Amino acid sequence: MPRYSLTAIILHWAIAALLAFQISVGWALEGLGAHGFALYQLHKSVGITILLLTLVRIGVRYWKPRPPKLEGGWQGALASGVHVGLYAFMLGAPLTGWALVSTAKVKVPTLLFGILPLPHLPLPASTHGLAENGHGLIAWLGIALFLLHVAGALRHHLLIRDGLIWRMIPGRSTALLVGLPALILLGFVAGRVILPTPRPAQTAAAPIAVEEPEALPAPAVNAVEATLPDSAAIADNSAAAQPEEPVGPPPTWTVQPGGRIGFAVGNDGETISGSFGKWTASIVMDPDHPDSADIRVSIDMASASVGDAYKDGMLPGDEFFGVAAHPTATFTAKGAEATGPNSYRAHGTLTIKGVTKPQSIRFTLSGAGKTRKVSGGATIARAPFGVGNGDSSTGLDPKVSLTFGFTAKTP
Ligand code: HEM
Ligand code: HEM
Repeated sequence: MPRYSLTAIILHWAIAALLAFQISVGWALEGLGAHGFALYQLHKSVGITILLLTLVRIGVRYWKPRPPKLEGGWQGALASGVHVGLYAFMLGAPLTGWALVSTAKVKVPTLLFGILPLPHLPLPASTHGLAENGHGLIAWLGIALFLLHVAGALRHHLLIRDGLIWRMIPGRSTALLVGLPALILLGFVAGRVILPTPRPAQTAAAPIAVEEPEALPAPAVNAVEATLPDSAAIADNSAAAQPEEPVGPPPTWTVQPGGRIGFAVGNDGETISGSFGKWTASIVMDPDHPDSADIRVSIDMASASVGDAYKDGMLPGDEFFGVAAHPTATFTAKGAEATGPNSYRAHGTLTIKGVTKPQSIRFTLSGAGKTRKVSGGATIARAPFGVGNGDSSTGLDPKVSLTFGFTAKTP
């Protein structure tokens, strides 16, 4: 029995699997916020790839004609109709996607696979609704046609047993008979699997060290607020044209020198306060989409000082920070929630002395644009971390208040 050319077969299955991936990712795109930036770009890149592969496939169809039809009558006509419909889906899905992106109020640039810029189609903005609805609808039409198509293939294979299916399987291989259709399932699953862990492009932002030349005794708690009087409004978001898709990956912020992480704890009615002289922070966050934030802070525990030589001598010891075995404390959080106009809370994990516990921090942003002042704090229970577990700590309050303030810039 004559079969399709190998090129036609490869394209048939590759396009089918990629379409399944597209639908799977497409359904999840909305509601991802800035988190979704990379996925939108991937969805658009794979979509344009499908468009190109389909054009090649149509070319191949003329260059290497398909084997003659096996069946006439209404069944043959239905099969041909479904094939035409599937081609329309393979072309229509990417074209409506391209059109909807080109007619959006805020035109987000597309860099195919991060390399090749995709121009916007010269279409009137009034066609946006049509393109958007068409894009969603065409996926369902495609699924309906696909089901009819598979039903037809199964009918031939199981009922008529005319061997038609082997025309799309190289070498009459039973393994490929199972494996190639399984690629479609794999494409769909791949679209799901990459969703829960979409990483912003720059999570590996190089942290910068903030060093205070000398750790001064400081009234930590209020000093932070005092250095951050600027409460200017955050960038104006009220502009009418809200982008439908995220305009960029969440920005990476670099902490500027001069920041401070301070702590204070009650001790027999007085307050002991101090700060950490050395720490680094790597922050990826879009203030408008805090859910995609990625925050990592690392504190050099040996740099702690309360401005009293005797007490400072005790801090690195095992009763407090156990610096020899655990030189750094870390706080990491994936995602933050907005608690007010410029206020946020990040739920993450804190590791001190090798013990990791859930910990939330609160912070506010002030300033606008590419420079923000960050101030905030956290209340930390010290006992679970084994901080202050000896005789000299009997008068220490169980809760330590941590405050921080620094300026962060994004390029
Ligand atoms: C080639 C096959 C493609 C398929 C099967 C496909 C499928 C889908 C599906 C099922 C959705 C969800 C629609 C909804 O929830 O209503 C979606 C959304 C989306 N797709 Fe595609 N897509 C394809 C190609 C493209 C291309 C080439 C682009 C742009 C260049 C694109 C851009 C988008 C955008 C921006 C969204 C979000 C829709 C919105 O904001 O309403 N897609 N896609
Ligand atoms: C399990 C899934 C699938 C199976 C078993 C399957 C099987 C087949 C078979 C056996 C043929 C040859 C029909 C003939 O010789 O008359 C064929 C043709 C075709 N298939 Fe599929 N297919 C599947 C999925 C898809 C998908 C997802 C698409 C596209 C969305 C697709 C698009 C087409 C088209 C357009 C043709 C006609 C090719 C031509 O003659 O130009 N198929 N398929």
